[in-house]
Amino acid sequence: MKKIVFVCLGNICRSPMAEFVMKSLTDSLKIESRATSDWEHGNPIHQGTQAIFRKYGIAYDRGKTSQQISARDFADFDCIIGMDEANIRDLKRMAPAEYQDKICQFGESGVPDPWYTGDFDETYELVLAGCRQWLERLNG
Ligand code: 4NP
Repeated sequence: MKKIVFVCLGNICRSPMAEFVMKSLTDSLKIESRATSDWEHGNPIHQGTQAIFRKYGIAYDRGKTSQQISARDFADFDCIIGMDEANIRDLKRMAPAEYQDKICQFGESGVPDPWYTGDFDETYELVLAGCRQWLERLNG
């Protein structure tokens, strides 16, 4: 089974949203999420993202906490998906040379950070559309 990881700055808003939306769409991938930073390490999924899960009936792990991407993750995952351009820059800086090609941006224009925009509904629309595209790309 292919292993993918969604990565954002804090791993409390966008990447966990993508993780559990994608899990709701498929059982055929191993899916996790991580942060580029350690700023939110150990903290739970943001209330705004949890509210989206409840609004759309998306199952999620209430015990999920923020975890920074590790050297081992770069080796383990087949596909490392950054949620915006800054995440991609940080991931390319962090990843060993041999794993640079695993790093891809989630969507063409990236997913704006609801930590700053406050608009978790916009995030959800972009995450759902992006996850559907990734599913086609990975399974097609
Ligand atoms: P995320 O959002 O990267 O989508 O999880 C953020 C979460 C926390 C911070 C920034 C963005 N922060 O500055 O702590």
